[in-house]
Amino acid sequence: MAAVFLLLLSFLLPTAARYTPDWVSLDGRPLPSWYDEAKVGIFVHWGVFSVPGFGSEWFWWHWQGQQPPDPNYVSYMTKNYPPGLSYSEFAPHFHAQFFNPEEWADIFRASGAKYVVLTAKHHEGFTNWRSPYSWNWNSVDTGPYRDLVGDLGEAVRNRSLHYGLYNSLYEWFNPLYLDDKKNGFKTQQFVIQKLLPELYNMVVRYRPEVIWSDGDWEAPDSYWNSTQFLAWLYNDSPVKDTVVTNDRWGAGCACKHGGYYNCEDKYSPGQLPKHKWEKCTSVDTLSWGYRRNMKLKELMDLPDIIDDLVRTVALGGNYLLNVGPTADGTIPPVFEERLRGVGAWLETNGEAIFATKPWRVQMENSTVSVWYTSKGATVYAIITARPPTTTLKLLIPKTSAATKVTLLGRPSPLPWAPVYPNAGLTVLLPDLPSTPGQAWTIKLDGVQ
Ligand SMILES: *[C@@H]1O[C@H](CO)[C@@H](O)[C@H](O)[C@H]1NC(C)=O
Ligand SMILES: *[C@@H]1O[C@H](CO)[C@@H](O)[C@H](O)[C@H]1NC(C)=O
Ligand SMILES: *[C@@H]1O[C@H](CO)[C@@H](O)[C@H](O)[C@H]1NC(C)=O
Repeated sequence: MAAVFLLLLSFLLPTAARYTPDWVSLDGRPLPSWYDEAKVGIFVHWGVFSVPGFGSEWFWWHWQGQQPPDPNYVSYMTKNYPPGLSYSEFAPHFHAQFFNPEEWADIFRASGAKYVVLTAKHHEGFTNWRSPYSWNWNSVDTGPYRDLVGDLGEAVRNRSLHYGLYNSLYEWFNPLYLDDKKNGFKTQQFVIQKLLPELYNMVVRYRPEVIWSDGDWEAPDSYWNSTQFLAWLYNDSPVKDTVVTNDRWGAGCACKHGGYYNCEDKYSPGQLPKHKWEKCTSVDTLSWGYRRNMKLKELMDLPDIIDDLVRTVALGGNYLLNVGPTADGTIPPVFEERLRGVGAWLETNGEAIFATKPWRVQMENSTVSVWYTSKGATVYAIITARPPTTTLKLLIPKTSAATKVTLLGRPSPLPWAPVYPNAGLTVLLPDLPSTPGQAWTIKLDGVQ
């Protein structure tokens, strides 16, 4: 009897899977479900690079790292700053004096996004929290004199959004890193003395639910100890049950290993990928960090953003949309407007986005492009342009007498007629309301 009971127990109780530090084991971990359901996140690039606010968050590298340096950056410095100014002297000017995490979190919440990812440390090595391993090169010892990671995290979580942290593995100018690099990555001084202790500390302290890893490409994952770190993260860390990670854990890992895949920045697959993925992109098409000289024509407008979001979700991806705050701690109002616009569109159309699954067909070309998502037995056909006529022909859905067609945001059903017996339908569209995103969702019930 006891034996039977024990046997039953062993079937009923999931044995706590222990992951081993190898890709076969780590890649087998199911992605915590909140992430796929969330669909939309906000990415925030903020750091000392926001002070020069010129070119991009790669300012330091273009100015002093790459050989030869980029003349645009050199002349920007010559013209605007005293001779001999070092990059580290920008840090005291990272004041963040207007930073109000509650206001930021309100904006992120209003965008409809379900998660927020902040740069805890970009390639410049400056940490937006008091890392014990980044003495005097962090936001509490200088600049804002404030725990930016902690303060934003509290406000974001207070609005029931998930909180994630971006962390660059490499640091362009860290002497330990440069030394390891000179040794062909046969030594691990930087990883053992700086990177790993900092990363463990960051996870325990802030409990991020996304670790958005970056800056991995110069060295193999064995140099970064990535698999050892991930095994700890998934087995023993305080976020082991909820954390998700991306795929930037060493040269050759992108699109192949890790949690969800980013592949490359702004990646757009042509067809439905087999593995969960995320498109990260930026409202400012030329930079992730704030640029003081950005122009309106260089920004994505709201219909561009909604179109990109819809394609991404139809193809099974999450959409991580970036804004770059100023060194003063403000989110430029033009970015705020975009984010609130996304939220206004999702207010009506979010049913076709959140917690949906890709449908059996992802898109068809009618008089306008039609992107499909699904939830249970319901199929959503999203159009991101106004059709030229008052009817829209959809050839993919299989209809029946029970088929019901509605426009999200409008209570009464839409008249429709089959194109062929039980296949395809022509929908009579109402006057499409002018929506901020210029995209509409036709909800199809009772189709296959
Ligand atoms: C947010 O903060 C308020 C005020 O401090 C608190 O009452 C509330 O419980 C918090 N909500 C969450 C979800 O943490
Ligand atoms: C790094 O990985 C090596 C094995 O490659 C292991 O011996 C060592 O303990 C790891 N260090 C940390 C801090 O994870
Ligand atoms: C729809 O049209 C686009 C642009 O011409 C084309 O790239 C795409 O393959 C078409 N899709 C389908 C499903 O026919």
